[in-house]
Amino acid sequence: MKSFRLSTISLAAIIPLSVHAIPDIPPELYSTLIPQRLLTTAQNISNPLTYPEWTKIAPYGNQLGQWQYFNINTWTSGFFPASLMLLAERGQTCPDGQIIAAQDAQASLNFGRVWSAPLTTLETNNSVKHDVGFISFPFWEDLKMNPGNTTAQAIVNAFAAYLAGRYNPIVGCTRSWDTPDPTQFEVIIDNMINIELFFVSAALNGNQTYIEMAKSHADHTMQNHVRDDGSTYHVVVYNSTTGAVIARETSQGYANERQVYCTLAPPSADSVLCSTWTRGQAWGMYGFTSMFNRTGDQKYLDTARRLSTFYVNNLPKDNLVPPWDFNAPASPDRPRDTSSATIASSAMLFLSQMETRAGNSTGSSFWLNAAISLLRDTVSLAYRRETNWQAILSNGTANNPQQNNNTGLVYGDYYFIKAGNMLLDMGVANCSSGTGPMTLPYNGTASSTTITKPSGASTTLI
Ligand SMILES: *[C@@H]1O[C@H](CO)[C@@H](O)[C@H](O)[C@H]1NC(C)=O
Ligand SMILES: *[C@@H]1O[C@H](CO)[C@@H](O)[C@H](O)[C@H]1NC(C)=O
Ligand SMILES: *[C@@H]1O[C@H](CO)[C@@H](O)[C@H](O)[C@H]1NC(C)=O
Ligand SMILES: *[C@@H]1O[C@H](CO)[C@@H](O)[C@H](O)[C@H]1NC(C)=O
Ligand SMILES: *[C@@H]1O[C@H](CO)[C@@H](O)[C@H](O)[C@H]1NC(C)=O
Ligand SMILES: *[C@@H]1O[C@H](CO)[C@@H](O)[C@H](O)[C@H]1NC(C)=O
Ligand SMILES: *[C@@H]1O[C@H](CO)[C@@H](O)[C@H](O)[C@H]1NC(C)=O
Ligand SMILES: *[C@@H]1O[C@H](CO)[C@@H](O)[C@H](O)[C@H]1NC(C)=O
Ligand SMILES: *[C@@H]1O[C@H](CO)[C@@H](O)[C@H](O)[C@H]1NC(C)=O
Ligand SMILES: *[C@@H]1O[C@H](CO)[C@@H](O)[C@H](O)[C@H]1NC(C)=O
Repeated sequence: MKSFRLSTISLAAIIPLSVHAIPDIPPELYSTLIPQRLLTTAQNISNPLTYPEWTKIAPYGNQLGQWQYFNINTWTSGFFPASLMLLAERGQTCPDGQIIAAQDAQASLNFGRVWSAPLTTLETNNSVKHDVGFISFPFWEDLKMNPGNTTAQAIVNAFAAYLAGRYNPIVGCTRSWDTPDPTQFEVIIDNMINIELFFVSAALNGNQTYIEMAKSHADHTMQNHVRDDGSTYHVVVYNSTTGAVIARETSQGYANERQVYCTLAPPSADSVLCSTWTRGQAWGMYGFTSMFNRTGDQKYLDTARRLSTFYVNNLPKDNLVPPWDFNAPASPDRPRDTSSATIASSAMLFLSQMETRAGNSTGSSFWLNAAISLLRDTVSLAYRRETNWQAILSNGTANNPQQNNNTGLVYGDYYFIKAGNMLLDMGVANCSSGTGPMTLPYNGTASSTTITKPSGASTTLI
């Protein structure tokens, strides 16, 4: 088993990359297979609507790759409509029809709204709790396309008010999960994404309290979830009446830990109790980058860099897609998590933009390179062309302690599409970037035969 060591490698020493070394964008990011697949799923409307979350796991045989549907009160129900909205946005960015046909972009918008409309029933009463942040994503997209949309504004404000109701001033955080003992106040690293809702809403209604809540939540997470080496705990349990930290543990990661701090060096019996769930690490990377974007506060940029550095330093060397937990034993098998890969790719593209804002072109190229390299390896491992596979990607791990691995994940696909949009926004990809070596329908050719690893890119990163 692996123990934690403080990474002594300085990033500066491993960034010999220049802008010229940026690897090619995988054209699969802009494949017409994406709207085809999403629109096929979108047309299958049940009453009431149920939402795709993961694809069937073994031993479903020929049903592998088919979506499993869940009721609307599930933390992931916003991702499918939000993915459709991202495709609509893609059509606005590239109206020439090269990346997405105009009628597909229009259909994505229409179906995105059909699938998001029922989410408004969760505004004041739901069982998704802090995850109203994720649930509100489709409406953020509507606002991005039309900032004056008062309907979407009201929805976003309602979800933010709900999230604010989960803020506890003694703890200084919004509560993630509810617990039978209300004094046990659980905060998960994933919540760093949900608090962005406070900024989206505050930009509409000017409520400064929301911004203070987000900052306080981020500051406590920075202090209590992030280890000295830049890795993270999944769950921190606070006492809601005293604000004290009473436990640091994992729920979906490999190793649990109660009332024991990770020791960095030398490895001790305690240190093996720590583990880093790779999707949680990716949520943290994105969340702290977003905090820097929204506040300009250097400490959030530093934290985003530390989390991201830990992430790239611990990626596997054969294919960069991380295992579900960095500390899960490598043998007998160690399922990967492509959702961690796509969330982290989006996070690093975002971080690259923030380095540019900070005037750091070396840092900007580094994260851009890392993100594209990870996307390339994600495509090579897990991009599924078979017509009976309904997700875009495979090899996601929803929850390995529950043996839910090697599936398609609706949020993995969402961040794959988002990364594609971000590259377009950044001007790294353009509206012709999808016209690479790719034919449809699938002819059985593995993507690794057309996508070769950029010379030295992955190895330079680790
Ligand atoms: C359509 O959706 C339902 C759930 O709403 C699901 O049970 C069914 O398998 C889906 N059909 C197809 C062809 O995907
Ligand atoms: C909240 O929603 C649940 C179903 O999700 C329902 O059973 C309950 O009655 C609702 N409560 C209120 C106050 O509307
Ligand atoms: C405004 O947003 C709502 C909610 O997403 C959507 O249903 C509606 O079509 C949008 N209207 C306009 C004019 O953009
Ligand atoms: C929180 O602290 C209060 C007051 O000290 C105590 O009564 C309660 O049991 C504690 N809760 C937990 C979960 O430790
Ligand atoms: C801002 O949000 C807080 C928390 O929801 C609320 O108590 C307060 O009334 C709001 N302030 C304004 C000016 O709307
Ligand atoms: C960064 O923050 C600005 C507001 O300051 C916001 O408009 C923009 O959407 C944010 N960028 C991202 C990628 O979230
Ligand atoms: C530039 O970015 C890299 C990677 O985030 C970071 O290690 C380095 O400290 C940054 N340099 C400056 C001068 O901020
Ligand atoms: C990726 O998933 C496929 C099944 O979808 C599986 O056969 C393969 O072993 C997985 N690859 C890895 C590296 O886990
Ligand atoms: C992955 O999930 C399967 C069930 O789908 C399970 O049998 C297997 O043990 C899991 N892999 C690991 C390493 O836990
Ligand atoms: C557009 O992107 C493609 C591949 O991503 C590249 O080959 C082409 O040179 C780019 N075109 C322009 C005008 O930048």
